[in-house]
Amino acid sequence: MIKVLFAAAEAYPFIKTGGLGDVSYSLPKTLRKLGIDARVIIPNYSNISQNFKSKMMHKSDFTVPVGWRNSYCGLAYYEFNEVPFYFIDNEYYFQRCNLYGFFDDGERFSYFCRAVLESMKYMDDFIPDIIHCNDWQTGMIPVLLNEHYKKNNEFINTKTIFSIHNLKYQGIFGKENLSDLLSLGEEYFSEDAVKYYNGISFMKAGINFSDIITTVSKSYAEEIKTPFYGENLDGLLRSKSSKLYGIVNGIDYELFNPNTDEHIYYKYNSSTIYNKVKDKLKLQKTLKLPESKNIPVIAIISRLVRQKGLDLVASAIEELLSMNIQLVILGTGDEDFEDVFQYFSNIYPSKLSSNIKFDNSLAQEIYAGSDMFLMPSLFEPCGISQLISLRYGCIPIVRETGGLKDTIIPYNEYTEEGNGFSFKNYNAHEMLNIIKYALEIYNNKEAWNKLIKTAMLQNNSWENSAKAYIDLYKTFS
Ligand code: GLC
Repeated sequence: MIKVLFAAAEAYPFIKTGGLGDVSYSLPKTLRKLGIDARVIIPNYSNISQNFKSKMMHKSDFTVPVGWRNSYCGLAYYEFNEVPFYFIDNEYYFQRCNLYGFFDDGERFSYFCRAVLESMKYMDDFIPDIIHCNDWQTGMIPVLLNEHYKKNNEFINTKTIFSIHNLKYQGIFGKENLSDLLSLGEEYFSEDAVKYYNGISFMKAGINFSDIITTVSKSYAEEIKTPFYGENLDGLLRSKSSKLYGIVNGIDYELFNPNTDEHIYYKYNSSTIYNKVKDKLKLQKTLKLPESKNIPVIAIISRLVRQKGLDLVASAIEELLSMNIQLVILGTGDEDFEDVFQYFSNIYPSKLSSNIKFDNSLAQEIYAGSDMFLMPSLFEPCGISQLISLRYGCIPIVRETGGLKDTIIPYNEYTEEGNGFSFKNYNAHEMLNIIKYALEIYNNKEAWNKLIKTAMLQNNSWENSAKAYIDLYKTFS
C-alpha cells in the first residue's frame, strides 16, 4: 500500500482560510477510499477548536533543529472521518491569532518543514513513500529531506511531490534564514536552488527540489509558464515542464449536496429544482431584498481580493445594479472592496445585499437561493466556488482563466451545450455583456431550467482527480 504524508498549512475541519483547506481534507479522504494510506500533517494552531483539541491523542514529543537551537515539538494525532491527521505542536510558533502574516513566518514555517520530517520518526510504522507538499509553507521540506536526511541514509526512498495552489504567495524571506534556521550552506543561495533576488523563496525551493510538481488545473499549469501569470518564476517553470502536471480539484460531494445540506431550507436535486425557487424566496427574505421569483439573483461568495476580479465588479457596479437583478455579496478581504460594496448597498438596499463576513451557513443558503454565480477572477489556479455553484444549480459566470476555464463550458443556445457563461479578457464591459446575455437566457424558462439540470449533473467529485494523483504516485514505484 502506497503511503503518502500530505503536508499543508491548513485543513478542514480544523482550520481553513481558503481552498487549500478543503483540498487537504477531501483529497486524502478520497485517496484512502482508493486504497492509498494517505495521512495529513498540519500545525496545531491555538485557534483550532477546543472540541477537536480535547480529542487529540498525544503521540510523542521530541526536539527539532532550528539552526543552532533545538525547539520543542509535540506530535498529536486525531482521526476525522477515517482520515488520520497529525498535528505539530509548538506554542511559540503556533499560538497566534491568525495562521499567517507574522514577521517571523519564515522561521515558523522553516520550523514546520523540519518538524514534519522529524515527526516521521514517531509515526509508528508509517514511513511515507511520498511526502505530498502544498504551497510555499511546505516548500522547504524537499530541500531539507535531501540535505539532512537522505545524506544520512534516512528516508532514503521517500519521494516528494509539490503542489502549487497559488503561485502568488511565495514565502520570500531573508537570506540569513538559510544558515540560521534551515542549516543549509551557502551553495543553496544560487539560482538553481532557492535564491530569489536577494532573499530566498520557499516556493522556488519546492519547485526546484521536489521530484514532481503539480498544480490544480491544466490551464493554470500552462499559464504559470508565461510572464503574466508566472510571478517571476515562469522561466523556472518552463524549464521544469516535463515534470509539471495540472490536476483539477474536485469538491466533496457529501459535504456539498443540495439534497441533504442541513443549512438550506428546501432540499432539492436535479429532478426537484422547483424547490430551489423556495430557497430563493427564503434567501431574499433573510437578506431583506424584495421577494420575487422573477428577479434574477446573482451571487458573489469570495475572499474580497484583487485575484478574484473584484475591481471589475467594483468599477461596473452602478451599471450592474441598473439591470433588473439582485446582487448578493458574501466575504471579507481588502478594506477598499469591503467599503465599496458596503457603500453601494446603503444606496441601493433593494438591489445589493453586502455581507462583509465569513459565514459558512449563509454561504450554503446563497448557493441554493441564487440563480447565477459571478467569478470574474484575474487568475484562478482552480477555484472551488464555481464547482459548488454547479452542484447547487447556481449558474457560474466566469472569466476564462485557470480552473475556471477548465470547468465551465460556455453555454451555446443553439446546441444547448455548456454549463455556464464565460468571457475572455479582463475587462468590465466584456463582463457586463456576458451577464446581459445570461439574463436573456434566464428569461427563457425552459432553456434555463435545462441549464440548471445540466449544471447539477456535472461530475466534479474527487474520484477522477484522486486517480490522476495515484497515477503520479505510481511512477515512483
Ligand atoms: C487557492 C487558489 C484556488 C484553488 C485553491 C485550492 O486558494 O486560489 O484557485 O482552488 O487554492 O487548490
